[in-house]
Amino acid sequence: MATENSTSEQKSKKKLFKKLSRKRLIFILLSVFVLLMLSGFGVIKASDNPAFCSTLCHNMEPMYDSYEHSNLLANAHKKKDVVCHDCHQDSLAKKSSEGVKYVTGDYEDPMKTREFSKSMCLKCHDYEKVKAKTNFKDSNPHDSHNGQLDCNKCHRMHEPSKVYCANCHEFSWMEKLPDSFSSKK
Ligand code: HEC
Ligand code: HEC
Ligand code: HEC
Ligand code: HEC
Repeated sequence: MATENSTSEQKSKKKLFKKLSRKRLIFILLSVFVLLMLSGFGVIKASDNPAFCSTLCHNMEPMYDSYEHSNLLANAHKKKDVVCHDCHQDSLAKKSSEGVKYVTGDYEDPMKTREFSKSMCLKCHDYEKVKAKTNFKDSNPHDSHNGQLDCNKCHRMHEPSKVYCANCHEFSWMEKLPDSFSSKK
């Protein structure tokens, strides 16, 4: 009798524990979800302002500095009122996870250079017009046997740009490149 009692007691204890832990689990999941949403929206609202990035996330400083004052293309875009978000449009999910990663210290410092697809640049730049502007005497960086290359083969926004063609050729226009090209290769 005594053993029967204690096993049924154990069973009901187990049940209670299961119920509790499920409730707790749901509570934890809900809290995490709410936190993710809050951090995501917070980042979206605040990050409309370029200064936000550097004050909150110190690993963004080099990008912010190159945007604010440099002879690099990020700054050339700042002068034309292009903001971080015109080029960096991450999804809400990505922003939330980045917010959480930053808070938990799970991020890279300095940040890795990401390769961007040219479609981002072509949202604002008409390739035919660009091509027409660089029709130099001996060749055209935008029109060659390489076809339409990815912009980041040459143009960098936060780092010096380089001329991909210089790996194999020397053309006269390479001598007169703007300061944003600090290195030829
Ligand atoms: C939100 C719009 C926008 C995006 C996105 C954008 N640009 Fe621009 N860019 C401009 C504007 C506006 C100018 C100034 C007018 C012009 O030269 O077309 C400019 C200027 C430039 C210049 C000339 C800078 C100078 O010093 O004269 C280069 C080179 C350039 N962009 C390359 C790029 C590349 C490469 C990308 C993609 C990584 C890109 N742009 C993305 C709007 C944009
Ligand atoms: C092979 C190297 C190379 C590639 C690839 C390249 N560019 Fe360029 N681009 C140059 C050079 C060199 C110049 C002339 C120097 C300058 O004005 O920055 C230039 C100039 C420009 C300009 C300024 C034109 C002007 O005088 O107003 C824009 C805008 C531009 N590129 C956009 C792009 C876009 C968008 C892509 C990708 C679809 C691209 N470029 C791909 C080398 C390249
Ligand atoms: C004209 C487009 C443009 C603007 C404006 C711009 N960026 Fe970028 N950003 C790029 C491109 C393209 C890269 C890839 C590396 C490169 O070209 O230097 C990049 C790289 C980065 C990276 C490296 C990590 C990654 O995602 O690859 C960070 C961080 C970054 N930018 C932050 C910023 C911040 C903060 C601002 C505003 C203060 C800003 N960017 C403005 C185009 C832009
Ligand atoms: C990996 C090496 C390599 C790269 C990078 C490269 N080319 Fe070439 N290019 C060649 C070779 C090889 C030939 C054919 C040999 C020749 O006739 O000189 C050639 C031929 C040419 C020609 C016709 C011949 C001439 O010299 O008048 C032009 C113009 C040209 N390239 C422009 C460019 C431009 C612009 C770029 C950058 C967008 C570029 N090339 C990038 C290797 C390269």
